[in-house]
Amino acid sequence: MNSGCGCNAGAPKTSHLCLPVPGRDQGSGTLPFRPSWKTVDELRSIVDQGDTVEPDILIISFMALGYRYISQAAAKTDVQLDYDGPLMKTEVPGPRSRELTKQLSEIQNADAVHFFCNYEESRGNYLVDVDGNRMLDLYSQISSIPIGYNHPALLKLLQQPQNLSAFINRPALGILPPENFTAKLEESLLSVAPNGMSQIITMACGSCSNENAFKSIFMWYRNKERGHSKASKEELETCMINQFPGCPDYSILSFMGGFHGRTMGCLATTHSKAIHKLDIPSFDWPIAPFPRLKYPLEDFVKENQQEEAHCLEEVEDLIVKYRKKKKTVAGIIVEPIQSEGGDNHASDDFFRKLREIARKHGCAFLVDEVQTGCGATGKFWAHQYWGLEDPADAVTFSKKMLTGGFFHKEELRPDAPYRIFNTWLGDPSKNLMLAEVLNVIKRENLLSNVVHSGQVLYNGLQDLQARYPHLISRVRGRGTFCSFDTPSDAIRNKLIANARNKGVVLGGSGERSIRFRPTLVFREHHAHLFLNIFDGVLADFI
Ligand SMILES: Cc1ncc(COP(=O)(O)O)c(C=O)c1O
Repeated sequence: MNSGCGCNAGAPKTSHLCLPVPGRDQGSGTLPFRPSWKTVDELRSIVDQGDTVEPDILIISFMALGYRYISQAAAKTDVQLDYDGPLMKTEVPGPRSRELTKQLSEIQNADAVHFFCNYEESRGNYLVDVDGNRMLDLYSQISSIPIGYNHPALLKLLQQPQNLSAFINRPALGILPPENFTAKLEESLLSVAPNGMSQIITMACGSCSNENAFKSIFMWYRNKERGHSKASKEELETCMINQFPGCPDYSILSFMGGFHGRTMGCLATTHSKAIHKLDIPSFDWPIAPFPRLKYPLEDFVKENQQEEAHCLEEVEDLIVKYRKKKKTVAGIIVEPIQSEGGDNHASDDFFRKLREIARKHGCAFLVDEVQTGCGATGKFWAHQYWGLEDPADAVTFSKKMLTGGFFHKEELRPDAPYRIFNTWLGDPSKNLMLAEVLNVIKRENLLSNVVHSGQVLYNGLQDLQARYPHLISRVRGRGTFCSFDTPSDAIRNKLIANARNKGVVLGGSGERSIRFRPTLVFREHHAHLFLNIFDGVLADFI
């Protein structure tokens, strides 16, 4: 068995420990940790000294054959934020989780439940379950925890008396907003508004953000066609019975493999897994192929360019075809990285050209940043990598942003009240928390952290791919938004289950990919810790 620590000493694994010094091996193409052997007693005395230990030193103890690693992040400031490593007491799900799942199953389908959690005990990058297992969480609630569990800055925010009312009194924001509503939106969402977007509407989740962005696009398109915003009597009457012209046959073009939510409109643009769509009536809206890139990218430059050009041609053909069919494409929706659909990437150039096509044909260009937004790729918005000259028309968000919603250009602004509306229109307590999350992101320079720890993770995955090519292929990623393919769905699921029993929570995406969606406080030493553990999982895999 290969511990992956680079140790070639003959001593039993329990008697020595590996002290990697992260950062120094980057880009070397070797495993991202440097062996420097110490005895257990030597290490104990280093740890006991506390603040004299180098902050970025990770101590990993290789425990005989069980591959149980214990990391010690020595930086003292981290102690209140994060645990020092996984701690496994049972298999996952353990007995308590299984019992609770059984109870839940009596009142709802609980087949999707992985295990039950103890959120009070969870900290930073570590999720604790009800059986007392503490796991390094690289999935972070389907990519929705921005700065780790129980971040002290958020705990403090909730303890401030002046904030309590925002949590207790949830308003109908569209009609009765609190005094500080605009100020809080400016402090939170508008402070990170994508280029070109002055308008913001908050929503509860990702699906309703996309759903309402579609509606805004359709209204905008109709007003554009009419030349004004005054509906005719016929339109007002026919819309009440779901008929043309009050309900025009517009469409939204989406991509195969895309995921934009599970509500009815969104589902018509979601094409990741059949289970989401089965038995639900849908629209005849155009679906374009999304590039399927070959890796490593540098070996397939020409093929990938051709693949992208072909997809873009299809987009234009579909727009023309659907206009002829009188199902005019009013908007195009796209994810910067197709996430649920298998972590499918395309080049920045592909997206720039797609934006041009949208403009050329008068379609709105909607970027779904529900999963990619809020820093996970190393830029606040993943589409910032594209360097668009003409910004997108609308950008939807949710997950790590804590509130759903969308930014949009002025042209897409609803022309009358109640056209884009629901009871809550988001939740001001989430805006309050988001403002603090953004402070932490800025204060702790977390976007740089994501770039840095993402690079360590990516390099390590490349290395694992070279050593376990029968299990890992197509390593890809931006920031910590990394992924790789496995040979099959069954192998992927087994790798995820094995990693979990060793103290690492991973997520799947698409048919056979494993995706990384850690929090923004995932540091270099967490990447090393994961790589060590996963190396063991791969080495043991049968
Ligand atoms: C890109 C994207 N869009 C939309 C959604 C839907 O968000 P929600 O599950 O909050 O409705 C998701 C959820 O995973 C997503 O990844």
